[in-house]
Amino acid sequence: DWTAANIVEETVEAIRAQVGPSGRAICGLSGGVDSAVAAALVQRAIGDRLTCVFVDHGLLREGERGQVERDFVAATGVDLVTVDAEEVFLRELADVVDPEEKRKIIGREFIRSFEGAARDLAEGEGVDFLVQGTLYPDVVESGGGTGAANIKSHHNVGGLPDDLQFSLVEPLRALFKDEVRAVGAELGLPESIVQRQPFPGPGLAIRIIGSVSADRLATLRRADAIAREELTAAGLDRTIWQCPVVLLADVRSVGVQGDGRTYGHPVVIRPVSSEDAMTADWTRVPYETLERISTRITNECAEINRVVLDVTSKPPGTIEWE
Ligand code: XMP
Repeated sequence: DWTAANIVEETVEAIRAQVGPSGRAICGLSGGVDSAVAAALVQRAIGDRLTCVFVDHGLLREGERGQVERDFVAATGVDLVTVDAEEVFLRELADVVDPEEKRKIIGREFIRSFEGAARDLAEGEGVDFLVQGTLYPDVVESGGGTGAANIKSHHNVGGLPDDLQFSLVEPLRALFKDEVRAVGAELGLPESIVQRQPFPGPGLAIRIIGSVSADRLATLRRADAIAREELTAAGLDRTIWQCPVVLLADVRSVGVQGDGRTYGHPVVIRPVSSEDAMTADWTRVPYETLERISTRITNECAEINRVVLDVTSKPPGTIEWE
């Protein structure tokens, strides 16, 4: 019968059977729950014959790199390689304003970074397997076929080149999202990973309306962290599906602070409730919580002098602004 413990046991057996007694595997970690649980299962099955690769593109939220490098590694003992790619991503994104252009660049650079690390490992140690966190709904959506390593583009890895061929290990293929979370908890993964709300692969880059820079990222990262802290403190993590914080980097408005006039940027708070992200309603966050978020962001983020609330449902608005 269905318990998380049974699923873990059966899946670990199946992975061992597939990978064999000496096979090696790699797994890309995104910071999200699917890749983390997939990696933890494979780690349990084959130990340090698994290497995880984490590409830090510099577009992550506060604390996310630490959650992978420190908390995930502490919980699983996994062998981790981090690729420091922030400089490359910022250089390629400089002056780019168009949302789809941003996505294209990020997707391309992500593959390049992952591929570089994968190639090093494959050449050094002979890696035969690529672990992916494909869920049952993804399997149904794509017609159920298995194939060579061809990662769906919405997973932000895209296709790998022909000369870099792996067999796929997909330990979550029979599971729904809530089952993945239960398995993750059973494996002892931290709450911050298992219960993480959705976050887009292109990260904070598509939450800066305007071009992306290190300064703008730092401002948005702080504002986002404050909003998350206050929403969590108010007990709203389960009510809210996700809450983008959006920096209107090309808009300025006049404000007053202390005895001076300011001319800063607005941020938009976009809390939504949803079942599957296909449709969404704006979440009725209590005024007291909104007040705390607004006060703290304008006090703690020098560039921001105005906080506005997005009260648009999806449709007609999308969840993200780009
Ligand atoms: P929208 O904005 O289309 O978002 O209502 C629906 C869900 O998808 C996420 N999202 C993305 N996820 N790469 C991703 O991995 C992307 O380019 C991307 N764009 C949007 C969004 O956060 C929401 O959960």
